[in-house]
Amino acid sequence: MENLKNDNLVIIKLGGSVITYKDKPLSPNYLAIEKMANIIKELKTHNKIIIVHGGGSFGHYWSIKYDMHTLPSAYSDEGISRVRESMIKLNSIIVEKFIAINLKPFSIHASSFVFNNLHRREQIMDMMDMIENNDLIPITYGDVIHTSGGNFSILSGDTLMNILSVNLKPRFSIFTTNVDGIYDNITNGNLVPNILISKTRELLTKDADTKIEFSSMVCDVTGGMKRKISESINIANEGIPVYLINGFYPERMIDIINGSEFIGTSIKMNEESI
Ligand code: IPE
Repeated sequence: MENLKNDNLVIIKLGGSVITYKDKPLSPNYLAIEKMANIIKELKTHNKIIIVHGGGSFGHYWSIKYDMHTLPSAYSDEGISRVRESMIKLNSIIVEKFIAINLKPFSIHASSFVFNNLHRREQIMDMMDMIENNDLIPITYGDVIHTSGGNFSILSGDTLMNILSVNLKPRFSIFTTNVDGIYDNITNGNLVPNILISKTRELLTKDADTKIEFSSMVCDVTGGMKRKISESINIANEGIPVYLINGFYPERMIDIINGSEFIGTSIKMNEESI
């Protein structure tokens, strides 16, 4: 089985709800981006890093305004331009913050390795080549992408996490959002610290009665927490541990990497089912 893990690689998603104020159109959360960048700098001393970021009140704002979704369709050309422009802007804000603290980000547009819902493995492996031989941090992001015949679709950063993780087999994949992890109940629930999945992709929690409810976030065209969980299950199914943590406390990523106790949810494959 081709299952060579890149043991010092960590793939991190910067959720749109962390890096932007989701309910305020086109407003970056500079402080959160800065805090995140500083922790990434710390992680970078012992790990290779790839970053994916979401759209938050940039990409999602225009996608909603022009009624654009993940389903390929002939969307408004103006909407397509607006979404693309807003994502370039958000990416550039993040890249500038990284450079300001002496990190070396390298933006890679999703369309260079995803086309028509297929991915190009060579281009993805190229990222690995880059991080092995340079000090760069590849950074890609959810965006509007051309599918075919004039159709476009919104590609979520969560899907990019899945594509990159399955191909590059990192030690961990970490999703950051504006909540501590997955809760067993949306309104007054408890944080579920560990989720095991069986080979049949069944969710197994410690307490067999625990059910997980999904919130449908407003201002989100790509499926909110539900998509994060389904993409996480696909990644964990490849034997890659996935963590969902609160991006306003990015230091929790250090706890995860050090193998210490952490606040968040881990999604792993149940060893017994392998
Ligand atoms: C969305 O990416 C990209 C666009 C809407 C253009 P994500 O779906 O990953 O964004 P967040 O993290 O949920 O905001």
